[in-house]
Parts: sequence; C-alpha cells; structure tokens
Amino acid sequence: MHMKRLASLVLMLGCVSAFAKASEREVWITLGADALSEVNAAFIVAGAKVPSLAGQKGDVVALKLPESEIDRVSRVMHDKLNRCGGFVYHDTEAEALAAVAGGGQTQFSPLAVTYTLDNGPVVNTLLASMAEPNILANITHLSSYTTRYYTSTTGVQAANWLKTLWEGYAGPRAQAGGDVTVQLFTHAAWAQPSVIMTITGTVTPSEIVVLGGHLDSTSSSSAAPGADDDASGIATISEVIRVAMANGYQPAKTVKFMAYAAEEVGLRGSKEIADSHKNQGANVIGALQLDMTNFKGSTIDVALMTDFTNAAQNTFITSLISTYVPGIQAANSTCGYACSDHASWTNAGFAASIPFEALMGQHNNLIHTSGDTLVKSGNNANHALKFAKVAGAYMAELAKGTASVSDSIPPTVAVTAPTAGASVSGSVTLSANATDNVGIGRVEFLVDGNLVGTATTSPYSATWNSAAVANGSHAVTARAYDLIGNTTTSAAVTVTSANASSNAIYDTVLRVPRCSNVGNVCDSTTLLNGRAGLGPEANAPNTINNSCADGVSGAYHSDESNDRIRVSTVSGNPFAPGETVRIEATAWVFSIRPDKLDLYYTATANSPVWTKIATISPVATGQQTLTATYTLPAGTLQAVRARFRYNGSAAPCGTSSYDDHDDIVFAVSP
Ligand code: BES
Ligand code: ZN
Repeated sequence: MHMKRLASLVLMLGCVSAFAKASEREVWITLGADALSEVNAAFIVAGAKVPSLAGQKGDVVALKLPESEIDRVSRVMHDKLNRCGGFVYHDTEAEALAAVAGGGQTQFSPLAVTYTLDNGPVVNTLLASMAEPNILANITHLSSYTTRYYTSTTGVQAANWLKTLWEGYAGPRAQAGGDVTVQLFTHAAWAQPSVIMTITGTVTPSEIVVLGGHLDSTSSSSAAPGADDDASGIATISEVIRVAMANGYQPAKTVKFMAYAAEEVGLRGSKEIADSHKNQGANVIGALQLDMTNFKGSTIDVALMTDFTNAAQNTFITSLISTYVPGIQAANSTCGYACSDHASWTNAGFAASIPFEALMGQHNNLIHTSGDTLVKSGNNANHALKFAKVAGAYMAELAKGTASVSDSIPPTVAVTAPTAGASVSGSVTLSANATDNVGIGRVEFLVDGNLVGTATTSPYSATWNSAAVANGSHAVTARAYDLIGNTTTSAAVTVTSANASSNAIYDTVLRVPRCSNVGNVCDSTTLLNGRAGLGPEANAPNTINNSCADGVSGAYHSDESNDRIRVSTVSGNPFAPGETVRIEATAWVFSIRPDKLDLYYTATANSPVWTKIATISPVATGQQTLTATYTLPAGTLQAVRARFRYNGSAAPCGTSSYDDHDDIVFAVSP
C-alpha cells in the first residue's frame, strides 16, 4: 500500500525530469523511507529530476540519482531533517539493493573478541602524558582551511598536512625500516585522499585495531570550518598518536589510525577502506570512531551510540571509562541512522563503536555551518581530551603492548588480620600492609578470590561478613595497586569460618521452618522446596498456623513454586532491630511476565500482621534467586513471607491455583 503510493508519486513527477543531463554518472544511495518525501520535495522545488526509487524494504529505500545531486540530498538531510537524515552511498545498483534487503544494515556476526583490562601501567602512562593544548592547536589548524570538502584543493591540502603531522610524531619510526608507516589512501572518484598511519604489531600483526575520524567538512558558499565536525575527532586521534610515539608504545597487534575522506557525502571514504579490508580478508578486531568530541552538550560526558555498533565492544568501552577515566560519565544514546564512519565498518562485518560528545539531540547545533568553530566550544579542547583518554585506553587494552613505563616496580602487600588459622564468625575486620616506591592507589580484599572490600587509605582495612560463606576453610588475600596500575596479590591467609547453625528447623507449633536462637542467618534449606502436594515440600503450605493455603494446579518444577527462603544480616551482626536484612528467595519461574514474587515481613510471628517489602519480577525462567532488603523492626520472634504467584496482584495471601506461600520464622535480639 505504502509502496504503491511512492511508486505513483515518482511516476507522476516524471515530467519534471526532462532537463536532467543524460550523460552524467548515475549512483545509488540508501536512506530511511521517512526521509523520502522531504528529499523528493527538494528536487521538485529546484526543478531537478526526482531520484528514482530503485527498491524498498521496510524502512529503507534505495534511490538512483546523478552523482552531482548527492549534495542536494546531503543538504536536505541537514537543513530540513535536522536530526540529520543519513544516507549511504553505493557505486552499483546491486550493492544498493543488497543494502535494502539487509534493512540498510548488513548483518554479520563479528568474531567474538575477549575484552580484558590488564594493561594498566601502559594505559596510565599514555593517558598521563595527554595534554589539551595539543588537541586545541590541531583543531585550530584544521578549522583554518576554508573548507575540507572532499573535492576541494584545501581538502587535499588538509590531508597532506595531517600526513606530515603524524610523520613528525612518529619521527625515525616512520622512516625506512621502522615499524610505522603514514600513507595516503587515494580514492579514484574524488581528489581528497584518506590518511592512514599504521603501527605494526610486535606479536600478532595480522590482528588490526582501527581508530578513525573524518577529515572532510561540508561544502559551503562561505566557509565550512568543521571544528567540531570533525576536526575534533582528528585532533583527538592525533593526541593518541603523539603520546603513543612519545612513550615508545609498541602494540602487540597492529594499530591503524585513519582520517577518512568524504564522510559528509555518504561515508564514501570509510566505505572504500572498510570494504578493502573485508575483501582482503583482514582481521580487524575492532574499530573506534571519533566524530564530534569537543562540544559538551549533556550532563553526561560520553554518549555511546548503540545502533550500527557492536554491543560487546560498547560494554568494553564503558568499563575502560570507569577504570581509566574516573570522574567522567558515560550513557547510551542512538543516532537513529548510519550517522558516521563506524557504520562502514559495521556494514563490512566488523565490530565498531562511536563514543560521541553528547546525547543525540544535545550535540553541537552549528555543525555543517560556517559557525562550526572553536568559539562554540569555549576556545578550548577540554571535552575532546576526555575522548583522547578513552581512545588511548581502547588502543592499549585492545591492541595491548608495551611502553616506556615510568614506574615498573609493583607494590608489596601482606594480610595482617586475621591471622593464619584463625576461627572467625560474624563481621570480621580484614587488614593489610602495602608499600610502593611511588605510592599505593588502593588495596582490594578478596575471600576465595571474590572481592569483598576496597581501601584507599592506610591503614588498609575492610569489613567482611563471614556468615556470607559456608562454615569451613577460606583463603583471604589482599591485592595492592600502585598509582600507575602495577599490582601485587599477597600470600593467602587461611581462616576457618565458624558461624552458629543457620538452618531452620520445622516448628510443629507455628507449622513453619524456624531459627530459635538469635543468629545472623536463617535458611529454610530444603524445607520449602515445592508447593502444596507438588515436590518434596513436607509440611505444605508452611504458612504460620496454616493461615494461607497453596494452589494445587500444575506440576513440580514446571509450574510455579517458592523453594527456599534465606534471610541474613548484611553486616554479619546478629539479627537485631535496625539491622539491614537481605532476603534471598529461590523460586521456580514458569513465565517471566505473569510470575511475581511478593515479599512481606512481620515483627510478631505468633500473630502475624504482614507489611509488604517488595514485589519482584523475575527476568528469566527456571530456578531463580530473587533478593530484597529491609530493616528489622523490634520484636524477638519475627517472620518473612514469600508468595510466588501467577498473575493476580500483590497480597500476603491469594487464591490462584498456582500460588505458593511460604513463611520462615527467626529469633531477633531484644
Ligand atoms: N558528525 C556527523 C554525524 C552526526 C551529526 C552524529 C549529529 C550525531 C549527531 C557526520 O559528519 C554527518 O554529518 N553525517 C551525515 C550522514 C552521512 C551518511 C552523510 C548526517 O548525519 O547527515
Ligand atoms: Zn557532518
């Protein structure tokens, strides 16, 4: 229906096309169907031939048009649909139609990459020598060309200047026999080359990590300084290159820095480069795009675009930010279309990401105008510096490798409390001594390898709830980090946790599992496993004084049941008024939408009055442990009720035929 209407619109307007030049080269673009009427209108207004519809599927259309009309599309996208419409250029009809068939986004599954953060000293060395004035100077220079348009002579000059800049950073490493090359990647169809700097990997050079931005700016009758879009991205990458060279960085994998030509006219430069990597079977394990890094339009600092990008790599970048660029905030956003060169890598089947200057819509609104100058960014490059740090961390953790690290001596660390062989219970203080030639950043405490606490100041100590682990032998270690990220883990100190029995026993008076002595855990273990007559649950319904019955429909561990309740203090101290208590309820989930867990407590187990704690929606089916916390009131015998239900609404007792109600009673200090 929609398709039919478009086809007749194009036909109807066919008469306007009489003046189009017959000889000119025809090209194809793909774009969102919602932009079509605006694009066609602009052609009509200008008395130009409306691009013909070459194909459509879902939200994506392919159009055929003379190459010289690309600029018109670009202008409509930016002026009329100032969300930036976005379109992708194609040389052939076959390629355009393939893109349409793929919904505009070719579906590949990039090889799974293992993302790890274990090159701290190198990352921190690189990041510590980054400086804003270098980025500012390079944005200033790049935005001084009248335009960097892909067909302009100044656009070519900018490429040559950048090549010289990068060669200068590399110094002798870029000379014959060195491990660095800086090359122009020429494009047959237009004048401006892309610029590519390669550092050959020392261990697995066939694996390639790409960091890129776009060199070109838009066409404009006055000027297209493109300071933010995208001199900022190029200058940000240039700072990564500068510190890599200044600190003798040698990646294990090959790193390629790219300044793409012709992005503004349909991602054309990056498409040729990404496609050539694909055609050569190159093993590109990740691509990072920096396009617009110097306008802080949001309270968050870095927006990670989730569309046309790789989710696993985006998660990796989020952890790089929290580990290496503390104090800066990241959040997800979307472009809504193939907005920059990362989409060329995604479309070629590689993992790509774009950390962007602001949430979509809050970004610099002067891009693509003569007003895209440094003035809009307060004449500084403070925001871009954050992206240089993100990019530096990305490079040194994905391509790993070495640098001339200023401090290569790791700390010393030893656990001082508890002592080896100690028997511990409840809340336990863990302490360590740590020293370093430069300084200690932090000390982490681990029990059986699991992080239980962190200290940043001496004397280093943390509190551990020993009741959170089973009674028996456990290994306590401390791991110290120095200021640059060198790390040492101490020898283990073995302790025995010996907490009073925390297993509830069935109470024939109250007719539910009960912990009669005051402890810090009360666990129903297997006593509640099942519902009504279904499953091993022996004393169903296990509600105080048989106060609420269970539904009897369905089958054990297919349909709903609440199988276990464990309550424990978060501190490890005994149950007492004011203590925060964690409830862990293990349930069998039949279906995630209708199934809900209602949790209640009462301060008076002998004559319960139920107060609601929470209703929890499980996120997966099968056996699930759902948790909530609450604060203990006064009362020497208290109880918790779990009701696991299918549909219905929250209440301590329900009548659905799949409802399971279970209580647990426990003693609390006065
Ligand atoms: N830097 C922009 C992309 C951008 C703009 C992202 C605003 C997020 C917010 C890029 O240079 C650009 O203009 N891209 C074109 C798309 C391309 C396919 C012609 C656009 O957005 O129209
Ligand atoms: Zn742009």
